[in-house]
Parts: sequence; C-alpha cells; structure tokens
Amino acid sequence: MTLEHDVDHATPAAAGYEWWRSAVIYQIYPRSFADSNGDGIGDLPGITSRLDSLAELGIDAMWLSPFMTSPQKDAGYDVADYCDVDPLFGTLEDFDDMLRAAHERGIRVIVDLVPNHSSDQHLWFQQALASAPGSRERARYIFRDGRGENGELPPNNWQSIFGGPAWTRVTDPDGVPGQWYLHLFDSSQPDFDWDNEEVKEEFRRILRFWLDRGVDGFRVDVAHGLVKDPQLPDYTPSPDAASMGGEETPAPYFEQAGVHEIYRDWHRILSEYDGDRALCGEAWVSSVEKMALWVRPDEMHQTFNFDYLMASWDEAELRDIIDRSLAAFSGVGAPSTWVLSNHDVVRHATRLSLTGENPQGTGIGPDFPGIPKYEDGVRRARAATTLMLALPGSSYLYQGEELGLDEVHDLPGEARQDPTWFRTQGERYGRDGCRVPLPWEDSAPAFGFSHTGESWLPQPKRWAPLARSVQAQQPASTLNLYRQLLQLRREADLGSGTLEWVPDFGSGVLAFKNSGVLVVANISGADVTLPDGHEVLATSTPIENRTVPRDVTVWLKEITHE
Ligand code: NOJ
Ligand code: CA
Repeated sequence: MTLEHDVDHATPAAAGYEWWRSAVIYQIYPRSFADSNGDGIGDLPGITSRLDSLAELGIDAMWLSPFMTSPQKDAGYDVADYCDVDPLFGTLEDFDDMLRAAHERGIRVIVDLVPNHSSDQHLWFQQALASAPGSRERARYIFRDGRGENGELPPNNWQSIFGGPAWTRVTDPDGVPGQWYLHLFDSSQPDFDWDNEEVKEEFRRILRFWLDRGVDGFRVDVAHGLVKDPQLPDYTPSPDAASMGGEETPAPYFEQAGVHEIYRDWHRILSEYDGDRALCGEAWVSSVEKMALWVRPDEMHQTFNFDYLMASWDEAELRDIIDRSLAAFSGVGAPSTWVLSNHDVVRHATRLSLTGENPQGTGIGPDFPGIPKYEDGVRRARAATTLMLALPGSSYLYQGEELGLDEVHDLPGEARQDPTWFRTQGERYGRDGCRVPLPWEDSAPAFGFSHTGESWLPQPKRWAPLARSVQAQQPASTLNLYRQLLQLRREADLGSGTLEWVPDFGSGVLAFKNSGVLVVANISGADVTLPDGHEVLATSTPIENRTVPRDVTVWLKEITHE
C-alpha cells in the first residue's frame, strides 16, 4: 500500500471537506465476518486477515459492531467492560493490530458505543444489586419501587423493544423481593440513568480511551433513547409502530430533548483530537427533519437515514425521501447518509421485494408470505445500491451485501439466538437471518469463514455460488459491481456532488445528474431507451440494445468531443 493512502490524523481537512461527509462506511459484524481460531465466532484477528479484501472493495471506513467484554446476551450490545476486548474476539493488542493494519490500507475505523444500557454483568450493575435502594450504586441505573400494595407491579406499563415488560424486579441481598429496574431491551441490559453525573463522566473516559487508541469515530447505539421523561408515564405504542422508535409522538423514552446536551459534550471531546473524528447516531426517529436535530453543527456528525432504509422500492417514495433528506441535512450543514441494510433489518436483497410489510427488527421466517426468488431479489437490490451509491453524502454498506447475500429466512428454530425470538416465544423471528457468517470460499469448510467448519449460525448451502472467491472471478458478479461503483464514485467524487433531477424519463423512473454523471434508475416504469451521446459507465445488471428495463439502474456519462 502506498503511503499517500495512509490514514493521517495529523493533517486537518479543510472545513467542509471532512472525510465523513462523503465516505462509504462498511459495517463489520465481528462475530460473522471471519473466524481465526476455529471456534465458529468471528474475531478481530479474523478481520485483520481479511482486510485486503476490503481495501480491494474500495471502502473509506469500517464500523465494527461491539467486540467489548460482554456475556453476549444481545450479541455484544450488552457491554460488561467498555474498555476491553471480549476474549471471544481477541485482545486489546489484536484491536491495535487491526487498527494499524486498517489505517495502513487507508481505511478508517469506527467503533460501536453502547451508552443507553450496560450488561447486567457490568461491575456497576452488580454493585447496584448488592446495594440498598437510594444508594449511590443504584442511582447509576433506573431503579424504582413497584406499584401495588407490596410493590408487586412494575413501576409503569412500558414494554421492552424485544418483547415482554421493560422492568424486572430484583431480589434483595436478604432474599426479599425488592425494587424494579428498567431495561428498554433485554432484562440483561439495564438502562443507565443519564441524569447521573458519574454516568456522564464514565462515558467521557470511555470515549477518550478509544480516541487515544486512534479510532476515527463512534457509532452511537440507541442515540435517541438515553434520556427518559422523569415522570416515567405509562405509554402504549401504536400497534404498527416500528420497534426501535420513530413514532410521530415519541415515546417517553425516546427523543427527549436532554439527549442533545450529551452529544454536545461528546462533540467537544472529539474536537480535542486531530483527524476529524466523527460521531454517527443510531436515532430511530420519525422523520429526517427530526433526525437533522442530531447533526446540528455542535452535535453528531452523521446519523443513519432510517427513513431511506424504510422506503419501499417506489419511485415517488424514493424521490420524496431523497429530496427531504438532502434539504433537512444540508439545512444544518451536515451530509445526508444513505443505508439499505444493517444487522437489525432484513437484508435488502430480500426486503425490497417483499410484497407486504417491511418487518424491520421483527425478522422473517419460513412461513413469511411473498419471499422473492433469489434472482429477482438480488436484481432489485443491485439496482437499489447502484442508485444509493450515486447520491451525494455518505453511504453505509453492511457486510455481505457486496456478495448479494439474501436474508436466511429458513434458519431452524433451534439455531436462532436473537433475544427477540426467545422473549416473544418464537412469535417474532428476530434478526438472525441477516447475521449469518459470510461465505469467503465456495469449497472450504464453513465457506472459509472458519477453518474448522464451525459457524455460530448455519450457513445455507445455496450460498456456495455467492462466495467471494467465486464472485471475484466473474466480471458481472455483485462483488465486481460494488467494486466498480465504488471506484467510479471516488473518481467522479459523487459523494461530494450535488443532485439535480432530470425529468425526461417517464413515470416509474428516477433520473438525476451528480458531478457529470447521469443516473437512470428504472424502478417500475416502461423500458427506457438511453439517450444518444452518452456512454454507459456502469449498469446494475447487464442491459441490451441500450434499453433499461425495470429494476435496473445505470450510470452514464456524456460523450464530449474535444
Ligand atoms: C441497536 C442495535 O443495533 C441492536 O442490535 C441492539 O439490539 C439494540 N440497539 C440494543 O443495544
Ligand atoms: Ca473465533
């Protein structure tokens, strides 16, 4: 690798040109990326060993889901020690090696920060359990007396996002039932009390710990949830509310005004460091206009555009969300982000073709109606990605989408591990179907994920032809499409460009120009004949006779005669 590629923290970028404004950020789900020691769970040395493939793909940065010390009740989103690596994933030294190796390849590294809740195995929670009501130890979490004559009812009616009540009653050291503690997620994930000064100070220390090690930023888990309405009022979400939030009238545990002061505080800490370190918020709020509040100039740098992720494959819906995103984010001086898949939602090679609802966070199983044929689903997914990567701003990719992986909807029940599956007694499948370990080589054990053939979730046999080793040899593979798009995007600087709609291509078609590239996405329209005088730079699926059928997106460039 050349030195000019190296990530350089010392040279400040000109204001407005910070790397994260246009970056393509690849999400690694560590337990499913690559397993170096054969125990069937991906780990940090596994990531390091596969970094060349990410450099070849052409990404700017990677975000790692949590690898910190954790009992893994929610796949690491239950942290017991924020400043150490879980032995399952390696050591702090392995982390430093991985970070160095990524930086040498010009890839920045973002780590996941989980500030809404810890694991129940965190020292602070264990101390809280051993301490009396009203103690300093309990004040770091949200403990309350129960309702009812003997405190036998939870303090309010809140439900956990994973199903079941959001409160669990503790047994006091003397064996008597005691207070209740709040957990918006699993009962093993107690919520911190963010009014507590010790909690605030501890997270400043955690930020500095990772910044000092050289990370380029943080993805902030449940960034809309840290502060709760102090009255803890009863609340019943509307029946069709998305699980992670995003209602018109927010729940009393989401979108409370107090969260913004926390991010201003963190912004100041990041600004003490060189290298444009960045915060990206996971804020499931009801509109991009509201999301923009999270990225005002002194708060976070980016926030995931979940409205874009939630949009159907529909021309009007996509046009509307693209327009509103660009307006809302540029209104506060932030880039828009774009995202189609992550570790919490049904993979977009399946999701965009489902005929019914979008089961965000709830997952799909074998009986889910309208699961598309693989060829149809991936064709649409490629068109959607080719559209997304042409948009100005920063894009997030989720590991495996570059292989066109679809959702593994047919996992056997006994293999499933998401707490959602257990907490709802199998009524909601949860998110395991998008978390299945990656296929690297078609004929190796566990498709090259693990040399022993172990894999914490079973990989479907039908993935053999999707293995990276196979796709690398096929010019028209999904992998090569991603590589080509990322290279062209970089050359034309599409991430920093401006979008201008082109109205000439009829209904069901989205067309726009960005930085000299004409993008035509046929969502649901009649066949489009490409205009003369343009060369095709990229096409999501090979086309014939310069005709773009539905579910195909092309990038074109005007031919200039010098
Ligand atoms: C959002 C994360 O993306 C998800 O995987 C996790 O279960 C919840 N937050 C709780 O931390
Ligand atoms: Ca391992």
